[in-house]
Amino acid sequence: MTGKYVVRTFGCQMNEHDSERISGLLQNDGMEAVDDDSEADVIVLNTCCIRENADNKLYGTLGHLKTWKAAREGRQIVVAGCLSQKDKDGVQKRAPWVDVVMGTHNVHRTAELVRESRVHGPITEIYDEAVNDDHVLFPSALPARRETTYNAWVTIQIGCDNTCAYCIVPAVRGKEISRPLDDIEREVAELAANGVTEVTLLGQNVNSYGRDLSLAERREGADVRPSPRFAELLRRVGAVEGIRRVRYTSPHPKDMRIDVLEAMAQTPAVCEHLHYPLQSGSDRVLSLMHRGYTGARYLERLVDARRLMPDLAVTTDIIVGFPGETEDDFVRTLEVAAAADFDSTYTFIFSPREGTEAATMVESFVDPAVVADRFERLRTVVERSALLKHQARVGRTEEIVVEGPSKRDPSVFTGRTRQNKLVHFSPVSPLRAGTYASVEIVRAAPHFLQGELREVLAEPSHRIRIPVASA
Ligand code: SAH
Ligand code: SF4
Ligand code: F3S
Repeated sequence: MTGKYVVRTFGCQMNEHDSERISGLLQNDGMEAVDDDSEADVIVLNTCCIRENADNKLYGTLGHLKTWKAAREGRQIVVAGCLSQKDKDGVQKRAPWVDVVMGTHNVHRTAELVRESRVHGPITEIYDEAVNDDHVLFPSALPARRETTYNAWVTIQIGCDNTCAYCIVPAVRGKEISRPLDDIEREVAELAANGVTEVTLLGQNVNSYGRDLSLAERREGADVRPSPRFAELLRRVGAVEGIRRVRYTSPHPKDMRIDVLEAMAQTPAVCEHLHYPLQSGSDRVLSLMHRGYTGARYLERLVDARRLMPDLAVTTDIIVGFPGETEDDFVRTLEVAAAADFDSTYTFIFSPREGTEAATMVESFVDPAVVADRFERLRTVVERSALLKHQARVGRTEEIVVEGPSKRDPSVFTGRTRQNKLVHFSPVSPLRAGTYASVEIVRAAPHFLQGELREVLAEPSHRIRIPVASA
């Protein structure tokens, strides 16, 4: 297939990883990636529907793209991702000028769908689940065109079996399926052989990794081997030669066990960073959300984690204004957040998603003005602890991996510490992305650190040549 394409990503890391595959498939089929819409023949919007503003953004963008499409014969618009999965043929009903609507389980079909619609006109193709003909389509097995060369996302699990009352993800990503450990290990080894030194393991609920694998073995009557669990996975991935940093997202506090924390602490490659989604500090709200833990239990695990990894950075997700959240509930969230001493927080305003339990609790929706006020109060608490955490790092020498020059000022480079802290620094001569270096931290701000380059520790591998890697 000839032509040029742009892929725009609206969602989370999984969504970004799917974009890499969409891009890889189009590129393998002969198309060329470009940055500019004006050059493109195909624009793919990889959508998210986690909150309402994500929906609005898509339909706003599609309005603009109608003009883009009309400007040149043969242009195509593809809508992929979670919002397609949710709205199905509703996308083309609202925006009939869209050429291809494809769901989260149809990524492998990208190139065929673009081709088919060139001949036959608009197509909507949404599979209900990832299993087809008894075969699980693990998207990681698809080619990927990666944006960076030194780090990579690796899917370890797809879907989610939890029932968090606010969340649309299980409806659009299907049931939870773990990817076999050997496949994961093989992909990581292949990435490492191509110069990747940092991997981020992706799943919606990584602590339950492997449970379904043992069930499948039992069903088939094969030898009942204990299922590989997340702790083992961390150790195995951390042992792959060439991998210097392992990250993962997201664990679920209800399933967090000490063995995972021990595996983190005992595996040198696993970074000292835990993204640990709290959602609320109030036990009453946590129970309404069906989260399966209490504020106290959450904090206890954090004490264990910090005992095992004293220099652990902890980040979190919090929802403000869940239906029925009272002032007392919110104060409890402030208390737990203060006690947890977070390095940073992603705070979200509750957004009702049709089809979820929380969307039906209309009579207890919280007044938007109250929610806005709570959002600000929480931000103050979190920014205070974030700044203190950053100030404590001033004077220390830290290992960073270089990301590259910053967009605003090319003389300023950015890098990430093992704790995933963003560091700004100005090297005398440019450093390549993927270089490991040590920097001395000289200044702290709530959202970044300022450093001075001390030493280059390792250059990125020269083996990185071909952007298309297939697992
Ligand atoms: N599986 C991951 C996160 C999935 S979504 C986990 O369980 O941690 C990412 C974040 O979006 C969630 O942690 C939650 O804080 C937020 N979120 C999900 N649904 C939401 C909704 N309806 N309104 C507001 N925030 C929401
Ligand atoms: Fe959503 Fe809960 Fe699953 Fe996370 S664990 S994806 S919040 S249902
Ligand atoms: Fe991710 Fe958004 Fe889908 S957060 S899983 S892209 S709904």
